[in-house]
Amino acid sequence: MTKATFNLHPHHHVGQVDPRIFGGFLEHMGRAVYEGIYEPTSAHADEFGCRTDVLAALDELDFTVMRYPGGNFVSNYHWRDGVGPVENRPTRRELAWGTIEPNSFGTNEFLSLCDRTGWSPMFAVNLGTGSAEEAADWVEYTNGQLATDITKQRELDQSSNTSKVPLWCLGNEMDGPWQIGHMSASEYGTKARQAAHMMKLVDPSIELVVSGTSLPDNSTYLNWDREALEAVGGFADYLSTHRYLDNYSGDTAAFLTSGAAIDQQIAEIDSVCRYVAGKRRSSKRPFIAFDEWNVWYRTRNRDGMWADGNFPAHLVEEVYDLQDALVCAQFLMSFIRNADVVKIANIAQIVNVIAPVLTDGDRLLRQTIFEALAMFVNRREGRALHLGYEGSTLGSPDFGDVAMVDGAAILSDNGELHVYAVNRSVDGTVDLEINLSGAHLHVVSSEILHHPTPSTQNTWENPHAVQRSAFETSDDAAPLVQLPPHSFFAATFKAT
Ligand code: AHR
Repeated sequence: MTKATFNLHPHHHVGQVDPRIFGGFLEHMGRAVYEGIYEPTSAHADEFGCRTDVLAALDELDFTVMRYPGGNFVSNYHWRDGVGPVENRPTRRELAWGTIEPNSFGTNEFLSLCDRTGWSPMFAVNLGTGSAEEAADWVEYTNGQLATDITKQRELDQSSNTSKVPLWCLGNEMDGPWQIGHMSASEYGTKARQAAHMMKLVDPSIELVVSGTSLPDNSTYLNWDREALEAVGGFADYLSTHRYLDNYSGDTAAFLTSGAAIDQQIAEIDSVCRYVAGKRRSSKRPFIAFDEWNVWYRTRNRDGMWADGNFPAHLVEEVYDLQDALVCAQFLMSFIRNADVVKIANIAQIVNVIAPVLTDGDRLLRQTIFEALAMFVNRREGRALHLGYEGSTLGSPDFGDVAMVDGAAILSDNGELHVYAVNRSVDGTVDLEINLSGAHLHVVSSEILHHPTPSTQNTWENPHAVQRSAFETSDDAAPLVQLPPHSFFAATFKAT
């Protein structure tokens, strides 16, 4: 039996965990909006045409911020198409995902949904085919207080007053050649600065996210981020970064260590943020918005694009297995460990498109990654603690030796300790000791996500194959939990 210890101390903390790291992302793509969130003809539709079954499942995940409306989609989206009487809205050709956009769901439908769900809206503006002025007008439409034609239009369009939009992304993945309106970092920097300037003139309270490198494999990685941040200067509150991990090689052992990539990416992006702030002699540094993350590789071929004209297309409907769920848990643990620099993170996406929830007609399926995400709910308030790891390591093809047990811990103000741990080994059980500087730890709740076969998926035929379950853990001065191979453990203790 292998042993590992998490050495924690209540005073050795990294920073307050920003609730916004538990965000989601809803894009007009495939069946995410149409047939996912919004389906007026569904047996589950509410008075707003939204699917109550989908919203109830998402409610279990308690998302904080919700990024909208794209993604690649936004770079050819004009927000005015999606407001006003539905019958007057245009149906447009949508080039990013090769479909049509009927615009029956738009700004006000989304904002009213946010009011009902409690999601805080995070909008991305179109810096592909859109202009700085169009972006500023959107801020005025959602947040403006002065009586202008634009805000009067909002009052006509909204059935009730909705929340304002506090957070805005300056475009999406503008470094990627696939992006509509793709440009160089210096061209982007100029356009983003112009948009940021106008947007903050309209509403100085908004926060802005600069579009950073979308893929660390891109040749412009880090240079793009530096140039864009330098150009946007003091308007930049956050720098966006994205990552989709994959298991193309089918090597479970290697895949289970790939969460190390996230720590590395955060460290590299953070160094650019600090460098740019230092060079500006500025005490205001941009923080990280990890505003797209997930596992995605089985459906990256974009099958369904330009398909048969059916709307909406079944696009990138990845079916996840247990290994993917364990990697998703590693993403969130990494964000927690880096609480001092990662302030926002959005799983991409929330329904049907690379998502924890799938629909099929009136049926709904909770995927394996849903189970992992649910284990963070009610266990996420407080300060992230430094985690001193002692124990076995595993060799990773890309990251050298990594801890066999990947972990994170949060201490809440009322003395509750939340602990997460992924046993990354494919065949080794581990005895994990949790030591909060000798404090007595009384178990409040304790769960595990495990299945003997890591490639097991939840399917329509077997929807509950991989499920979290209660896990017995003893009260102790340093409780010892026995983690089976390839498993995810989450627990809350009361420390005395
Ligand atoms: O989330 C799916 C797509 O992945 C987004 O539209 C894009 O930003 C990223 O490449």
